[in-house]
Amino acid sequence: MTSQEAKNRIEELSQKINYYNDKYYQEHISEISDYEFDMLLEELVRLEGQFPEYKTPDSPTLRVGGDITKSFNSVKHKYPMLSLGNTYSEQEVRDFDERVKKFLNTQDDIEYVCEMKFDGVSMSLTYENGILKQAVTRGDGVQGDDVTTNIKTIKTIPLKLKTGDYPTMFEVRGEVFMSKQNFEKLNKEREDIGETLYANPRNTASGTVKLQDSAEVARRGLDCFLYFLLGESLPYQSHSEALEALSKWGFQVSDTYKKCKNIDEVLEYIKAWEQKRHTLPVETDGAVIKVNNFSKQEELGLTAKSPRWAIAFKYKAESVGTVLQEITYQVGRTGAVTPVAELKPVQLAGTTVKRASLHNANEIERLGLRIGDTVFVEKGGEIIPKVTGVDLSKRPASSIPLLYIQNCPECNTALVRKEGEALHYCPNEKGCPPQIKGKIEHFVQRKAMDITSLGEKIIEQLYNAGLIKNIADLYDLKQSQLEALDRMGEKLASKIIKNVEESKMIPFERVLFALGIRFVGATVAKKLADYFENIEALSQATIETLTQVPEIGDRIAQSVVEYFAEPDSQDIVQRLKAAGLNLVSEKQAVVQKGTSLEGKTFVVSGVFSQFSREGIESEIEAHGGKLLSGVSGKLDYLVAGDKMGPSKLEKAQKLGIKIISEEEFIKMIS
Ligand code: IVH
Repeated sequence: MTSQEAKNRIEELSQKINYYNDKYYQEHISEISDYEFDMLLEELVRLEGQFPEYKTPDSPTLRVGGDITKSFNSVKHKYPMLSLGNTYSEQEVRDFDERVKKFLNTQDDIEYVCEMKFDGVSMSLTYENGILKQAVTRGDGVQGDDVTTNIKTIKTIPLKLKTGDYPTMFEVRGEVFMSKQNFEKLNKEREDIGETLYANPRNTASGTVKLQDSAEVARRGLDCFLYFLLGESLPYQSHSEALEALSKWGFQVSDTYKKCKNIDEVLEYIKAWEQKRHTLPVETDGAVIKVNNFSKQEELGLTAKSPRWAIAFKYKAESVGTVLQEITYQVGRTGAVTPVAELKPVQLAGTTVKRASLHNANEIERLGLRIGDTVFVEKGGEIIPKVTGVDLSKRPASSIPLLYIQNCPECNTALVRKEGEALHYCPNEKGCPPQIKGKIEHFVQRKAMDITSLGEKIIEQLYNAGLIKNIADLYDLKQSQLEALDRMGEKLASKIIKNVEESKMIPFERVLFALGIRFVGATVAKKLADYFENIEALSQATIETLTQVPEIGDRIAQSVVEYFAEPDSQDIVQRLKAAGLNLVSEKQAVVQKGTSLEGKTFVVSGVFSQFSREGIESEIEAHGGKLLSGVSGKLDYLVAGDKMGPSKLEKAQKLGIKIISEEEFIKMIS
């Protein structure tokens, strides 16, 4: 491809991808499949890699990240980033209104705009000629950090504005946040690999914005609401007009804002949202009240720390008292023991709360909890309610201090507490039922080996029947053994066997994640698989070689070395290898597998459930088959997935070419 051709193709791909992105994010319409979209994006990533001179600052590939920021440059804000004064009561809000009126020397009602106060990190975005130039954190208000690369991964922040009446240069400010849903998903993933959990969405958003690896930022999925437009001689009279303009230019403005004619309407807004705010996807901790009219804002001006034209109202963190009936202990896949407060059910922030997390033994000690105590439960920035204190006046006379358990509640093994860790662990990895079952559940999950027919209940059943004690046992299961189980039936049994068989095609990086090595999540597994290419090399790696892999630190390296040093792990890896699992990276695997497809030609088209299209293509080559670029008389097989183009299918039918499904293909090579 010539340089000019590359330039044209990069432009064409960027345009297409931007078009589909806009359709999707603004109109919620997908005109092409996720797969086709990914293919366009992949091609663009590849071309931009080969011809970096043509990568534009608004390239859609920036959304997926990949660029690493070693250290963030400090940038001085053109307009300082102020904070807001806080109010906590109706009276204080009325006082604010009085101050505003007095300052403006008027008795007339003031028009305000009320907004939710989003709990995230404030961010300042600069646009020049409609292109996002820079994203800077608040910092100390005078200067912040340039986090542009990371912010460009936020899909709701436009990289380039569509033609419109926006000023050539302006700044827009807003709150970058992590939705409650993405926060929970992230914490589930962390729990699964034995990582400590993040405390709340706000801190997580703030940490994520400052990650070095923008691909990880993209994966975590931040979001942003904009609420403040700044610039020289803007053609708007009021804040509400500015918000309308922002939203017209493609910025995400939360539709929770409201124009209020006077302070009574402001107070109504505050009341109306006190409960309703819990249904929003983002955490909020109050409302922001802004004088709507810009000339009035200007007249009011600023104090050293905050504008006189705006104020925040903070909702009280909701707290209720209820009785601590019992403390139960949960044992996770990694053996970590977490105490849970079992509470007398109570209404809090719109839901019934029965349980609250207690984190660890230190927390129980800090609170000085006793069974039978009346405790205060709060829903703050965290999603799971937490116990914040004890009402000592209600402590029953008969209560006794609580002793943290010494032995595993599941297998009775003495618990251990590693140095520097807050959690107790059950060390009986191979004999403690929730650890065994948890490891198998982790192994079969969709992101790992994708053996979806093995749900929690069936794993429990197989474990209780003595059929599986570790992940390698899955590959020894026989149809007859399964059929002999209660409520199993032939259909489900054969589905399990089939799913287990199909999992042998799962690429190495996912097998590596599935092994459940502590701290090795999906992203780390991919990095290790790419670097070491096969399990032998990885299993022999030392701390030194492991820490040479970009972004692999001592803690992960230590964990990997410990895992492979265990004779049991070695045994399991050997058995998985013997069962035919992929323990080699795809690139290297191509030269390795059989000759069953020798002399046959293939075209692969559409979307598949087990493999990616490239996955099937590399399997074809790995088994001696040849790939053709299009359907012609020379073609032997068309491997057809979902959503493939009708013209290809028609042509193949006309030429009498064998059209096979993914399953049929898998049979051909197994
Ligand atoms: S307006 C001059 N509007 O609250 C101040 N801020 O305590 C302009 N915040 O640093 C800020 N939601 O991070 C504004 N709807 C909203 C907000 C909001 C959250 C944050 C922001 C700011 C802090 C002020």
